Amino acid sequence: MQSSNPLSWRWTAYLCLLSVLFSLFTPAVMVKENDFKKCHQSGFCKRNRALADHAISQGTSWQAPYTIAHDQVSLKHGQLEATILKTIDQQGTTVNLPITVSFLLSGTARVTVDEEKRQAKSIELRNGSGARKERYNEAEKWAIVGGLTLDKDAKISHQDKKGITIKYGPNLEFEAEIKYEPFAIDFKRDGTSHIKFNDRGLMNMEHWRPKVDKVEPEKEGEEEKKEGEEEQKQEPKEVPPHLDESTWWDETFGGNTDSKPRGPESVALDISFHGYDHVYGIPEHAGPLSLKETRGGEGNYEEPYRLYNADVFEYILDSPMTLYGAIPFMQAQRKDSTVGVFWLNSAETWVDITKAKESKNPLALGIATKTSTHTHWISESGLMDVFVFLGPTPQDISKKYAELTGTTAMPPESALGYHQCRWNYVSDDDVKEVDRKMDKFKIPYDVIWLDIEYTDEKKYFTWDPNMFKDPISMGKQLDEHGRKLVIIIDPHIKNTGSYPVIDEMKSKGLAVKNKDGKDFDGWCWPGSSMWIDAFSPAAIKWWCSLFKYDAFKGTLENTYIWNDMNEPSVFNGPEVTMPKDNLHHGGWEHRDVHNINGMTFHNATYEALLTRKTGELRRPFVLTRSFFAGSQRLGAMWTGDNQASWEHLGAAVPMILAQGIAGFPFSGADVGGFFGNPELELQTRWFQAGAFYPFFRGHAHIDARRREPYMAAEPYRSIITAALRLRYSLMPSWYTAFFHANRDGSPIIRPMYWTHPGEESGFAVDDQFFVGSTGLLVKPVVEKDKDTADVYIPDDENYYDYFTYHKLPTSKGKTASVPAPIETIPVLMRGGHIFPRRDVPRRSTQLMKYDDFTLVVVLGKNGKAEGDLYVDDGDSFDYQKGQYIHRLFKLKDKLLTSTAASTHEGKSLSDGDWMKRFYNVSFDKVIIVGAPASWANKIEVTVKSESKERPVNLEYHKAEGAKAAYVVLSRLGVRVGADWEVNFA
Ligand code: GLC
Repeated sequence: MQSSNPLSWRWTAYLCLLSVLFSLFTPAVMVKENDFKKCHQSGFCKRNRALADHAISQGTSWQAPYTIAHDQVSLKHGQLEATILKTIDQQGTTVNLPITVSFLLSGTARVTVDEEKRQAKSIELRNGSGARKERYNEAEKWAIVGGLTLDKDAKISHQDKKGITIKYGPNLEFEAEIKYEPFAIDFKRDGTSHIKFNDRGLMNMEHWRPKVDKVEPEKEGEEEKKEGEEEQKQEPKEVPPHLDESTWWDETFGGNTDSKPRGPESVALDISFHGYDHVYGIPEHAGPLSLKETRGGEGNYEEPYRLYNADVFEYILDSPMTLYGAIPFMQAQRKDSTVGVFWLNSAETWVDITKAKESKNPLALGIATKTSTHTHWISESGLMDVFVFLGPTPQDISKKYAELTGTTAMPPESALGYHQCRWNYVSDDDVKEVDRKMDKFKIPYDVIWLDIEYTDEKKYFTWDPNMFKDPISMGKQLDEHGRKLVIIIDPHIKNTGSYPVIDEMKSKGLAVKNKDGKDFDGWCWPGSSMWIDAFSPAAIKWWCSLFKYDAFKGTLENTYIWNDMNEPSVFNGPEVTMPKDNLHHGGWEHRDVHNINGMTFHNATYEALLTRKTGELRRPFVLTRSFFAGSQRLGAMWTGDNQASWEHLGAAVPMILAQGIAGFPFSGADVGGFFGNPELELQTRWFQAGAFYPFFRGHAHIDARRREPYMAAEPYRSIITAALRLRYSLMPSWYTAFFHANRDGSPIIRPMYWTHPGEESGFAVDDQFFVGSTGLLVKPVVEKDKDTADVYIPDDENYYDYFTYHKLPTSKGKTASVPAPIETIPVLMRGGHIFPRRDVPRRSTQLMKYDDFTLVVVLGKNGKAEGDLYVDDGDSFDYQKGQYIHRLFKLKDKLLTSTAASTHEGKSLSDGDWMKRFYNVSFDKVIIVGAPASWANKIEVTVKSESKERPVNLEYHKAEGAKAAYVVLSRLGVRVGADWEVNFA
């Protein structure tokens, strides 16, 4: 963010001077870290962490003050209702916390705890606040789209005064054993514990209480007062930190005071993963995929992972610090078992993680220990609302989570191409020139982007009248080669005269309000700004109206949108965001909804693109920086403002992998690095890595030098071009991987634990991945001067080099050394897979739409292979009406077959517009890597399709040294949509 910002030049100069002076004494990263809270600076986090310390120090004598009244428990239609009583004083006074445990048909369990008093709105707000009184209960409305059907077959298997056990899930193999005193739940699968709630007694729901003002000491006794002061100084020693009231009623950080009209309201729970030593997920953080412990110790963090969406300028690596988005979904992994939890809460959240060795059998002291992972979830406000997934596979977890929060939207195919961005292309002529140069150098790309400078003084929905005089002709030139334009639209609306957008937003009352109910005014790119409250249906409707082609002149069908700064970023706000006591639609405080805020804006823009023109039903593409659980339904994300450094290149893959397993796989990092100027080797390596990011965009800061791929000196230009062409060649495989993500929530690039959950040696590997189900194993080079890469091999299959067909000497759990000079990307092909590609390089995905395909078959050790291809028009929603082709390929018993994967194809192949156009697209070539020696004498095989048989030439290339034998069948000429088979017998 900030650099060329709207501060007057004098301020900029002053700040620059200050920061230069400061940087002389302080390491650069420190400055930014200190702009954001640590746990001890966030009152509720500090209290809950202190409670954990207190409880743990008490050992077995600690008992959490939460109990279920046993005579009021009922299970009806898959839902258990009860009340948890929280004892709040020594006299035994209790408050009621209604709990619902829902057993869902999918086998997922959901535990929801509310607070009766707040639920009934029988509390008093302070400071004349107009905020809602309840705990925020609408996160579900934004995050959840399905999967809530109750499992009416869930049944009580045991019940007495101490607790109740419910059997549920597939074949009733899951159990929730609920203990009443203290309240705890043990989630079991096949009779053994996997996930435990409140096992360590750290549950905490800060109940409502009125503020009791302390009596001021009498005025006259000046001396007495002094004594009083001294006593006060000692107070912190006496009050245990978990009961510290100093931040209950207001809290100040960085000069901003939060008025906290509802007082303390935090909600916390310990969740233990029994016997699990790896946990993953809870993006967004710049750190390893396998999450670290957070309570100190060698190599561990000292701070909990934080989820509080923020515009973290120049973020630091290997840190639990919060970033731009939040998905409070975690998976735990042990050999052959995966489980997970989804903490549905959109307030500021912290997660502590510790691991403990436990003896499997208390009698077998010292031997057979296993590790358990203990997590402690702490949110500032809202309900306790947790979903529990019992697996047993990573695929199950991804699928079940996707049933709740939705899957990746099927993107326009062009969005999978290369995106050329920088801050900024300065004029429409500049854009046209870049477009021409990409063509001149035969470099494929699909989308060019405009950052904030295209606007007339940062007023969104306008064009700079001098520099972008003719956006239509710019858009049309791009369209000639099927290319698109993405323009940025941020949520802050310039607060200035003669700007209809701000006038309308104000007059319709659609801006976020401050604590006094007035339009909130803050500072962002345009200077003084107001923020659209995209929680409001009326605001969404209005937002949609702004994108109509006749309203936003200069936009065309090939214009798409980039939503940035939607955390929201407020330059002069606390932690660069909105005050927590701001108010949103429905009277909810910003504190409650902060982490959802970015998603609501993304959602409004997605809706707007869907409704630009009546009758136009094309897939939107909207990139977002901020996100929450569910954002995957709306478009892509990127990892924000990284740096042109090798370390940032290395940090990107684990971050993108974390996105994938958290259900939001359409993700990427700024290729080349946002800040700074990458040396050519770094830039080249970054393109090679980026060619395997689901979202592939080059971007650079306004102060960075121009670095379009054609600017690179040889040999780098050619190497970058080759990486881009590889991306385009594999586009059918990428698109198929997106289709799978769309169907079942699977990650697009997949970490080793996800594909090989039985191989413990791969659980911490996060610098390589498989692409969809293609069997392509990629390990981008992220270090300088490397000419080999060590690729971890997760199984005993055959592995071949993608480019040379060299068979690697591999064995399970070991690494294989692969040549990786600068012109090479370490890409291996795993035996047993078949993947599609297109071999004629062209300028954009649109221009490749009707090209023939090549199939690459990589024989497994058992002589078999399989794979699939999904194709549709790449643009409309007609695929939902059956306008798609999904083929399954199998090589088995010397027979290679292509069959329909689903049966919409009852229809004829030429039914519908796209099907008609696609009718003659064929498989042209088949390459079989690792072909058996027995095929050496064949020169011909027979292909059968659509009741015809034809001979096809077979070229056999025998093995040479490490190079495997392979076969090429050319001019196959079988229609993609038709069944066919080739017999090698
Ligand atoms: C933010 C974005 C960055 C963009 C800049 C200007 O810093 O993260 O990508 O270029 O704003 O809009």
